[in-house]
Amino acid sequence: MTIAVCPGSFDPITNGHLDIVTRALRHFDEVIVLVTGNPTKTSGLFTIDERVDLIREATSHLEGVRVDSWAGLLVDYTTQHDISALIKGLRSSLDYEYELPMAQMNRRLTGVDTYFLLTDEKYGYISSSLTKEVAKYGGDISGLVPESVHDAIREKFSN
Ligand code: PNS
Repeated sequence: MTIAVCPGSFDPITNGHLDIVTRALRHFDEVIVLVTGNPTKTSGLFTIDERVDLIREATSHLEGVRVDSWAGLLVDYTTQHDISALIKGLRSSLDYEYELPMAQMNRRLTGVDTYFLLTDEKYGYISSSLTKEVAKYGGDISGLVPESVHDAIREKFSN
């Protein structure tokens, strides 16, 4: 059985993330979407538990997806679960510059490999932070995030 971890802060999951997870399932039997971050930290729009719940809802139609969270080093999670592959999406050369040292550091630490999937052109400009900013000022975020996430963001900003 081949397993890969797709890590990120997912604050919140976007349609771009969802596309990467869906496509990763064509190459791995199981994909663990791993929300990284400290649960006691209050930074971010959603708590870690809320992010996990939103991902569970958004991926409920996909077979082979597991959702988990982790507060420590990513490679400690992959080692503990005997996983040798990470999956990341690349939207642009900026993402590449950001991801390259992390992939190399993770490989140096434990030998875990990072597989990069190029983001579909439809989702190239979508990010969690830009989506939140547009929503904060009342802009239209439909089509950028799954339906349930859309509603959850709206609810956050209506309070
Ligand atoms: O989607 P993001 O927020 O850019 O994801 C970055 C993430 C979560 C993959 C990275 O910050 C991470 O791996 N965090 C866990 C702590 C860790 O292992 N840091 C060292 C990375 S070399």
